[in-house]
Amino acid sequence: MPRVLILGGAGYLGLAVGQALLRSGNHSVFATTRDGDKLTSLTANEITPIKGDATDSKFLVDTITAYYIDVVIDTTQAYGDVGTMLNSIVQAARNRADALAKDKAIGPKLGFIYTSGSWVHGSPDRRVSDLTVPGTSLAPDKPATAVAWRPAHEQTVLAARDVLDVAILRPGAIYGRGSWVFSPWWGPLLAASKSGSQGPVGIPVDAKTRTGIVHVDDLAAAYLATVDKIGHGLGSWPVFDVVTENVAIDSVLTGAASVLGVKGPIQYQGTHGDAFLEAVALVASSDSSRARSILGWEPKRRDFIQNLDVIVSAWQTTQK
Ligand SMILES: NC(=O)c1ccc[n+]([C@@H]2O[C@H](COP(=O)([O-])OP(=O)(O)OC[C@H]3O[C@@H](n4cnc5c(N)ncnc54)[C@H](OP(=O)(O)O)[C@@H]3O)[C@@H](O)[C@H]2O)c1
Repeated sequence: MPRVLILGGAGYLGLAVGQALLRSGNHSVFATTRDGDKLTSLTANEITPIKGDATDSKFLVDTITAYYIDVVIDTTQAYGDVGTMLNSIVQAARNRADALAKDKAIGPKLGFIYTSGSWVHGSPDRRVSDLTVPGTSLAPDKPATAVAWRPAHEQTVLAARDVLDVAILRPGAIYGRGSWVFSPWWGPLLAASKSGSQGPVGIPVDAKTRTGIVHVDDLAAAYLATVDKIGHGLGSWPVFDVVTENVAIDSVLTGAASVLGVKGPIQYQGTHGDAFLEAVALVASSDSSRARSILGWEPKRRDFIQNLDVIVSAWQTTQK
Protein backbone atom coordinates (compact mmCIF):
# COMPACT_ATOMS: atom_id res chain seq x y z
CA MET A 1 0.00 0.00 0.00
CA PRO A 2 1.43 3.39 -0.93
CA ARG A 3 2.06 5.48 2.16
CA VAL A 4 0.77 9.01 1.73
CA LEU A 5 1.68 11.97 3.95
CA ILE A 6 -0.69 14.94 3.95
CA LEU A 7 0.84 18.20 5.17
CA GLY A 8 -1.91 20.16 6.93
CA GLY A 9 -3.98 16.97 6.86
CA ALA A 10 -6.36 18.09 9.63
CA GLY A 11 -7.43 21.13 7.58
CA TYR A 12 -10.59 21.47 5.51
CA LEU A 13 -9.16 20.03 2.30
CA GLY A 14 -6.50 17.80 3.90
CA LEU A 15 -9.00 15.82 5.96
CA ALA A 16 -11.27 15.19 2.96
CA VAL A 17 -8.26 14.00 0.93
CA GLY A 18 -7.20 11.65 3.73
CA GLN A 19 -10.70 10.20 3.97
CA ALA A 20 -10.88 9.65 0.18
CA LEU A 21 -7.51 7.89 0.17
CA LEU A 22 -8.59 5.63 3.04
CA ARG A 23 -11.96 4.85 1.45
CA SER A 24 -10.16 3.58 -1.65
CA GLY A 25 -8.63 0.86 0.50
CA ASN A 26 -5.36 1.31 -1.36
CA HIS A 27 -3.44 3.74 0.83
CA SER A 28 -2.01 4.19 4.32
CA VAL A 29 -2.53 7.80 5.33
CA PHE A 30 -0.38 9.97 7.59
CA ALA A 31 -0.93 13.64 8.35
CA THR A 32 0.96 16.47 9.99
CA THR A 33 -0.63 19.06 12.23
CA ARG A 34 0.91 21.70 14.46
CA ASP A 35 -2.14 21.67 16.65
CA GLY A 36 -2.30 19.11 19.47
CA ASP A 37 -6.10 19.43 19.59
CA LYS A 38 -6.39 18.10 16.03
CA LEU A 39 -4.44 14.90 16.72
CA THR A 40 -7.53 13.16 18.08
CA SER A 41 -9.60 14.17 15.07
CA LEU A 42 -7.00 12.59 12.78
CA THR A 43 -6.83 9.42 14.87
CA ALA A 44 -10.63 9.21 14.92
CA ASN A 45 -10.52 9.34 11.11
CA GLU A 46 -8.05 6.43 10.99
CA ILE A 47 -5.29 8.75 9.83
CA THR A 48 -1.93 8.41 11.60
CA PRO A 49 -1.32 11.83 13.20
CA ILE A 50 2.16 13.32 13.29
CA LYS A 51 2.51 16.42 15.42
CA GLY A 52 4.88 19.02 14.02
CA ASP A 53 5.36 21.95 11.70
CA ALA A 54 5.80 21.07 8.03
CA THR A 55 7.78 24.28 7.58
CA ASP A 56 10.47 22.91 9.94
CA SER A 57 12.96 21.28 7.54
CA LYS A 58 14.38 18.72 9.96
CA PHE A 59 10.89 17.66 11.07
CA LEU A 60 9.69 17.22 7.48
CA VAL A 61 12.74 15.36 6.16
CA ASP A 62 12.77 13.10 9.23
CA THR A 63 9.03 12.41 8.98
CA ILE A 64 9.16 11.46 5.29
CA THR A 65 12.11 9.18 6.01
CA ALA A 66 10.95 7.61 9.30
CA TYR A 67 7.45 6.79 8.00
CA TYR A 68 8.73 5.46 4.62
CA ILE A 69 6.47 7.91 2.79
CA ASP A 70 5.87 7.33 -0.94
CA VAL A 71 3.77 10.41 -1.79
CA VAL A 72 3.59 13.80 -0.03
CA ILE A 73 0.59 16.10 -0.52
CA ASP A 74 0.79 19.76 0.51
CA THR A 75 -2.62 21.03 1.65
CA THR A 76 -1.25 23.68 4.02
CA GLN A 77 -1.78 27.38 3.98
CA ALA A 78 1.91 27.90 4.80
CA TYR A 79 2.17 30.34 1.91
CA GLY A 80 5.32 32.12 3.12
CA ASP A 81 7.17 28.84 3.53
CA VAL A 82 6.32 26.90 0.39
CA GLY A 83 9.95 27.11 -0.80
CA THR A 84 11.28 25.74 2.49
CA MET A 85 8.79 22.87 2.41
CA LEU A 86 9.64 22.03 -1.19
CA ASN A 87 13.37 22.04 -0.38
CA SER A 88 12.75 19.62 2.51
CA ILE A 89 10.74 17.29 0.27
CA VAL A 90 13.49 17.42 -2.38
CA GLN A 91 16.07 16.67 0.33
CA ALA A 92 14.07 13.63 1.51
CA ALA A 93 13.78 12.49 -2.12
CA ARG A 94 17.55 12.81 -2.59
CA ASN A 95 18.16 10.82 0.60
CA ARG A 96 15.85 8.12 -0.72
CA ALA A 97 17.59 8.08 -4.13
CA ASP A 98 21.01 7.94 -2.44
CA ALA A 99 19.94 4.98 -0.28
CA LEU A 100 18.75 3.12 -3.37
CA ALA A 101 21.93 3.99 -5.28
CA LYS A 102 24.04 2.69 -2.38
CA ASP A 103 22.25 -0.62 -2.76
CA LYS A 104 22.76 -0.41 -6.53
CA ALA A 105 18.97 -0.51 -6.88
CA ILE A 106 16.49 1.28 -9.09
CA GLY A 107 13.34 2.47 -7.31
CA PRO A 108 10.44 4.87 -7.65
CA LYS A 109 10.86 8.58 -7.00
CA LEU A 110 9.15 10.22 -4.08
CA GLY A 111 5.82 11.65 -5.26
CA PHE A 112 4.71 15.20 -4.48
CA ILE A 113 1.36 16.85 -5.11
CA TYR A 114 1.26 20.60 -4.64
CA THR A 115 -2.05 22.33 -4.04
CA SER A 116 -2.25 25.58 -5.99
CA GLY A 117 -5.55 27.21 -6.93
CA SER A 118 -7.54 28.46 -9.90
CA TRP A 119 -7.02 32.10 -8.84
CA VAL A 120 -3.66 31.98 -10.67
CA HIS A 121 -5.67 32.52 -13.89
CA GLY A 122 -7.05 35.88 -12.74
CA SER A 123 -10.09 37.07 -14.72
CA PRO A 124 -9.23 35.93 -18.27
CA ASP A 125 -11.19 37.31 -21.21
CA ARG A 126 -11.29 33.88 -22.83
CA ARG A 127 -11.75 30.31 -21.66
CA VAL A 128 -8.55 29.02 -20.09
CA SER A 129 -7.42 25.56 -19.19
CA ASP A 130 -4.51 24.12 -17.26
CA LEU A 131 -2.50 24.24 -20.50
CA THR A 132 -2.48 28.04 -20.10
CA VAL A 133 0.68 28.90 -18.14
CA PRO A 134 -0.14 31.61 -15.59
CA GLY A 135 2.29 34.38 -14.85
CA THR A 136 3.65 34.34 -18.42
CA SER A 137 3.05 36.49 -21.51
CA LEU A 138 0.94 33.65 -22.94
CA ALA A 139 -1.67 33.98 -20.19
CA PRO A 140 -4.64 36.27 -20.88
CA ASP A 141 -4.63 37.77 -17.38
CA LYS A 142 -2.35 38.08 -14.38
CA PRO A 143 -2.95 36.05 -11.22
CA ALA A 144 -5.01 37.55 -8.41
CA THR A 145 -2.76 39.71 -6.21
CA ALA A 146 -3.29 37.39 -3.22
CA VAL A 147 -1.67 34.52 -5.13
CA ALA A 148 0.75 36.49 -7.32
CA TRP A 149 3.60 34.36 -5.91
CA ARG A 150 2.01 31.05 -6.83
CA PRO A 151 2.84 30.67 -10.56
CA ALA A 152 6.58 31.04 -9.78
CA HIS A 153 6.27 28.39 -7.08
CA GLU A 154 4.43 26.08 -9.49
CA GLN A 155 7.42 26.46 -11.82
CA THR A 156 9.82 25.56 -8.99
CA VAL A 157 7.78 22.45 -8.22
CA LEU A 158 7.85 21.43 -11.90
CA ALA A 159 11.60 22.05 -12.04
CA ALA A 160 12.09 19.51 -9.23
CA ARG A 161 11.02 16.69 -11.51
CA ASP A 162 14.60 15.43 -11.69
CA VAL A 163 14.18 14.02 -8.16
CA LEU A 164 10.43 14.05 -7.57
CA ASP A 165 7.37 12.78 -9.42
CA VAL A 166 5.20 15.87 -9.19
CA ALA A 167 1.65 16.96 -9.88
CA ILE A 168 -0.07 20.27 -9.28
CA LEU A 169 -3.79 20.55 -8.61
CA ARG A 170 -5.55 23.89 -8.91
CA PRO A 171 -8.93 23.80 -7.17
CA GLY A 172 -11.55 26.45 -7.61
CA ALA A 173 -13.32 27.78 -4.51
CA ILE A 174 -14.03 24.67 -2.46
CA TYR A 175 -17.55 24.17 -1.12
CA GLY A 176 -19.31 21.60 1.03
CA ARG A 177 -19.58 21.02 4.78
CA GLY A 178 -17.49 23.64 6.60
CA SER A 179 -16.27 25.60 3.56
CA TRP A 180 -14.79 28.95 4.59
CA VAL A 181 -14.26 30.65 1.25
CA PHE A 182 -17.89 31.79 0.86
CA SER A 183 -18.05 33.29 4.36
CA PRO A 184 -17.34 36.89 3.18
CA TRP A 185 -20.47 36.64 1.02
CA TRP A 186 -22.77 34.52 3.16
CA GLY A 187 -21.66 35.99 6.51
CA PRO A 188 -23.41 39.36 5.97
CA LEU A 189 -26.53 37.52 4.75
CA LEU A 190 -26.57 35.39 7.90
CA ALA A 191 -26.09 38.49 10.07
CA ALA A 192 -28.99 40.26 8.28
CA SER A 193 -31.16 37.20 8.72
CA LYS A 194 -30.40 37.02 12.45
CA SER A 195 -31.12 40.72 12.96
CA GLY A 196 -34.36 40.54 10.98
CA SER A 197 -33.30 43.68 9.08
CA GLN A 198 -35.28 44.57 5.98
CA GLY A 199 -32.67 47.05 4.75
CA PRO A 200 -30.10 46.47 1.98
CA VAL A 201 -27.40 43.88 2.73
CA GLY A 202 -23.93 44.98 1.57
CA ILE A 203 -21.73 42.22 0.17
CA PRO A 204 -18.01 42.88 -0.57
CA VAL A 205 -18.05 41.59 -4.14
CA ASP A 206 -18.53 42.85 -7.71
CA ALA A 207 -21.76 42.27 -9.63
CA LYS A 208 -19.80 40.76 -12.55
CA THR A 209 -18.12 38.08 -10.40
CA ARG A 210 -18.23 34.52 -11.67
CA THR A 211 -16.54 32.00 -9.46
CA GLY A 212 -15.04 28.61 -10.29
CA ILE A 213 -16.10 26.04 -7.71
CA VAL A 214 -15.62 22.40 -6.77
CA HIS A 215 -17.17 20.26 -4.03
CA VAL A 216 -14.66 19.14 -1.42
CA ASP A 217 -15.49 15.46 -2.01
CA ASP A 218 -15.07 15.77 -5.78
CA LEU A 219 -11.76 17.52 -5.21
CA ALA A 220 -10.65 14.78 -2.83
CA ALA A 221 -11.46 12.27 -5.57
CA ALA A 222 -9.14 14.20 -7.91
CA TYR A 223 -6.32 13.85 -5.35
CA LEU A 224 -6.98 10.12 -5.10
CA ALA A 225 -6.79 9.80 -8.89
CA THR A 226 -3.57 11.83 -8.92
CA VAL A 227 -1.93 9.74 -6.20
CA ASP A 228 -2.86 6.60 -8.12
CA LYS A 229 -1.34 7.95 -11.35
CA ILE A 230 1.64 9.90 -10.10
CA GLY A 231 4.89 8.56 -11.48
CA HIS A 232 3.16 7.02 -14.47
CA GLY A 233 0.45 8.29 -16.74
CA LEU A 234 0.29 12.01 -15.96
CA GLY A 235 2.13 13.04 -19.11
CA SER A 236 4.60 15.86 -19.57
CA TRP A 237 2.38 18.55 -18.04
CA PRO A 238 1.09 17.20 -14.71
CA VAL A 239 -0.95 20.30 -13.90
CA PHE A 240 -4.71 20.11 -13.47
CA ASP A 241 -7.39 22.73 -12.95
CA VAL A 242 -10.07 21.16 -10.78
CA VAL A 243 -13.33 23.06 -11.17
CA THR A 244 -16.82 21.74 -11.85
CA GLU A 245 -18.78 24.93 -12.53
CA ASN A 246 -18.28 28.67 -12.97
CA VAL A 247 -21.23 30.23 -11.15
CA ALA A 248 -22.49 33.81 -11.42
CA ILE A 249 -22.49 35.78 -8.16
CA ASP A 250 -26.10 36.84 -8.56
CA SER A 251 -27.41 33.26 -8.32
CA VAL A 252 -25.01 32.44 -5.46
CA LEU A 253 -26.23 35.40 -3.40
CA THR A 254 -29.95 35.36 -4.20
CA GLY A 255 -30.04 31.61 -3.59
CA ALA A 256 -28.24 31.91 -0.25
CA ALA A 257 -30.42 34.90 0.78
CA SER A 258 -33.51 32.83 0.12
CA VAL A 259 -32.18 29.86 2.14
CA LEU A 260 -31.29 32.15 5.05
CA GLY A 261 -34.58 34.05 4.89
CA VAL A 262 -33.00 37.46 4.18
CA LYS A 263 -35.65 40.12 3.61
CA GLY A 264 -33.70 43.11 2.29
CA PRO A 265 -32.13 43.59 -1.18
CA ILE A 266 -28.52 42.68 -1.93
CA GLN A 267 -26.08 45.54 -2.51
CA TYR A 268 -22.78 44.94 -4.35
CA GLN A 269 -20.13 46.88 -2.46
CA GLY A 270 -16.96 46.00 -4.41
CA THR A 271 -13.76 44.71 -2.84
CA HIS A 272 -11.97 48.02 -2.05
CA GLY A 273 -8.45 46.75 -2.63
CA ASP A 274 -8.67 43.83 -0.19
CA ALA A 275 -6.50 41.13 -1.83
CA PHE A 276 -8.48 38.16 -0.51
CA LEU A 277 -11.87 39.64 -1.41
CA GLU A 278 -10.53 40.55 -4.86
CA ALA A 279 -9.46 36.95 -5.43
CA VAL A 280 -12.86 35.60 -4.43
CA ALA A 281 -14.44 38.15 -6.76
CA LEU A 282 -12.64 37.12 -9.97
CA VAL A 283 -14.48 36.46 -13.21
CA ALA A 284 -13.53 32.83 -13.74
CA SER A 285 -13.55 30.90 -17.01
CA SER A 286 -12.02 27.66 -15.83
CA ASP A 287 -12.18 24.30 -17.48
CA SER A 288 -11.24 20.87 -16.14
CA SER A 289 -11.41 18.71 -19.24
CA ARG A 290 -7.82 17.47 -18.78
CA ALA A 291 -8.55 16.37 -15.21
CA ARG A 292 -11.39 14.29 -16.63
CA SER A 293 -9.49 12.88 -19.60
CA ILE A 294 -6.07 12.31 -18.00
CA LEU A 295 -6.89 11.69 -14.33
CA GLY A 296 -10.15 9.93 -15.19
CA TRP A 297 -11.81 12.35 -12.76
CA GLU A 298 -15.59 12.04 -12.64
CA PRO A 299 -17.03 14.77 -10.42
CA LYS A 300 -20.42 13.93 -8.96
CA ARG A 301 -21.53 17.26 -7.48
CA ARG A 302 -22.41 19.58 -10.36
CA ASP A 303 -25.59 21.26 -9.15
CA PHE A 304 -24.36 23.92 -6.76
CA ILE A 305 -27.24 26.34 -7.22
CA GLN A 306 -29.91 23.62 -7.10
CA ASN A 307 -28.35 22.26 -3.89
CA LEU A 308 -27.77 25.63 -2.19
CA ASP A 309 -30.25 24.80 0.58
CA VAL A 310 -28.15 21.92 1.92
CA ILE A 311 -24.84 23.62 1.12
CA VAL A 312 -25.68 26.90 2.87
CA SER A 313 -27.28 25.04 5.79
CA ALA A 314 -24.13 22.93 6.24
CA TRP A 315 -21.97 26.08 6.12
CA GLN A 316 -24.29 27.77 8.65
CA THR A 317 -23.74 25.00 11.22
CA THR A 318 -20.02 25.83 11.24
CA GLN A 319 -20.55 29.54 11.96
CA LYS A 320 -20.14 30.63 15.57
N1 LIG B 1 -10.54 26.43 0.57
C1 LIG B 1 -10.58 26.80 -0.71
O1 LIG B 1 -11.61 27.26 -1.22
C2 LIG B 1 -9.33 26.67 -1.56
C3 LIG B 1 -9.43 26.92 -2.94
C4 LIG B 1 -8.30 26.76 -3.73
C5 LIG B 1 -7.09 26.38 -3.17
N2 LIG B 1 -7.04 26.14 -1.84
C6 LIG B 1 -5.76 25.75 -1.28
O2 LIG B 1 -5.90 24.53 -0.59
C7 LIG B 1 -4.97 24.49 0.50
C8 LIG B 1 -5.71 24.06 1.75
O3 LIG B 1 -6.76 24.96 2.02
P1 LIG B 1 -7.86 24.66 3.14
O4 LIG B 1 -9.09 25.32 2.71
O5 LIG B 1 -7.89 23.22 3.45
O6 LIG B 1 -7.24 25.47 4.37
P2 LIG B 1 -7.29 25.14 5.94
O7 LIG B 1 -8.57 24.48 6.31
O8 LIG B 1 -6.92 26.39 6.63
O9 LIG B 1 -6.15 24.05 6.16
C9 LIG B 1 -4.82 24.35 5.91
C10 LIG B 1 -3.95 23.72 6.98
O10 LIG B 1 -2.65 24.26 6.77
C11 LIG B 1 -1.96 24.25 7.98
N3 LIG B 1 -1.19 25.51 8.05
C12 LIG B 1 -1.67 26.76 7.93
N4 LIG B 1 -0.68 27.66 8.06
C13 LIG B 1 0.46 26.93 8.25
C14 LIG B 1 1.80 27.28 8.46
N5 LIG B 1 2.20 28.56 8.48
N6 LIG B 1 2.70 26.30 8.63
C15 LIG B 1 2.31 24.99 8.60
N7 LIG B 1 1.04 24.60 8.40
C16 LIG B 1 0.12 25.57 8.23
C17 LIG B 1 -2.98 24.18 9.12
O11 LIG B 1 -2.76 22.94 9.77
P3 LIG B 1 -2.48 22.80 11.35
O12 LIG B 1 -2.98 24.04 12.03
O13 LIG B 1 -3.28 21.58 11.69
O14 LIG B 1 -1.01 22.61 11.47
C18 LIG B 1 -4.32 24.14 8.40
O15 LIG B 1 -5.20 23.19 8.95
C19 LIG B 1 -4.32 25.88 0.57
O16 LIG B 1 -3.08 25.83 -0.10
C20 LIG B 1 -5.29 26.73 -0.23
O17 LIG B 1 -4.66 27.85 -0.84
C21 LIG B 1 -8.12 26.27 -1.02
